[in-house]
Amino acid sequence: MIKISPSILSADFAKLGDEIKSVDSADYLHFDVMDGVFVPNISVGIPVLESVRKATDMILDVHLMIASPSKYTARFANAGSDIVVFHVEAETAEATRTAINELHELGKKAGLSIKPATGVQALEPYMELLDLVLVMTVEPGFGGQKFMSDMLPKIVQLREIIDKRGLDCEIEVDGGINSETAKLCIEAGANVLVAGSDIFGAADRAARIAELRSL
Ligand code: DX5
Ligand code: ZN
Repeated sequence: MIKISPSILSADFAKLGDEIKSVDSADYLHFDVMDGVFVPNISVGIPVLESVRKATDMILDVHLMIASPSKYTARFANAGSDIVVFHVEAETAEATRTAINELHELGKKAGLSIKPATGVQALEPYMELLDLVLVMTVEPGFGGQKFMSDMLPKIVQLREIIDKRGLDCEIEVDGGINSETAKLCIEAGANVLVAGSDIFGAADRAARIAELRSL
């Protein structure tokens, strides 16, 4: 089943509660955290996540684009995340394992993400531990960028690893997703599609979510 995760980075933050209601037919809600260090942009953090948690029952898919994420994963978990995804490039191997285990102990799902320049081999040692892998299909930091089709082979590789090893791990894609690029990602083996500008820019957001899900 294809799942859709609208990214609130493209929402109007002055009316965030209403913006979330407008996409609540989706499967997850994607919450992008940027620190201005790991990526060249700053977005929102823990206090906003706590408010979002109170405003919706949606599954909160929190994407940490921050340096030293293991220092914060438990705090984001306790602030209301359901799934916490952080970048493999941002942590040591030891801290990565500790953070994943800690998330599981807190009853949360754990995911790891790779930037466009990072290969699938960076995820390999952790695959058995993960509930989700996130393949960035743009350079993380901004919404509204163009999809990088050269990321598709990474999705194919991950799908092969997951199926061969019989793992229960979702493959999420993030960046430049619209009905055209979503199709390519699904064909490559992705099952969770993050979309910011495509969904929030649509006149009928629920219809766009249904359309992306049924590709
Ligand atoms: C980018 C973020 C994305 C972003 C996607 O670094 O991780 O989640 O909101 O935006 P679109 O769908 O507009 O490319
Ligand atoms: Zn994201």
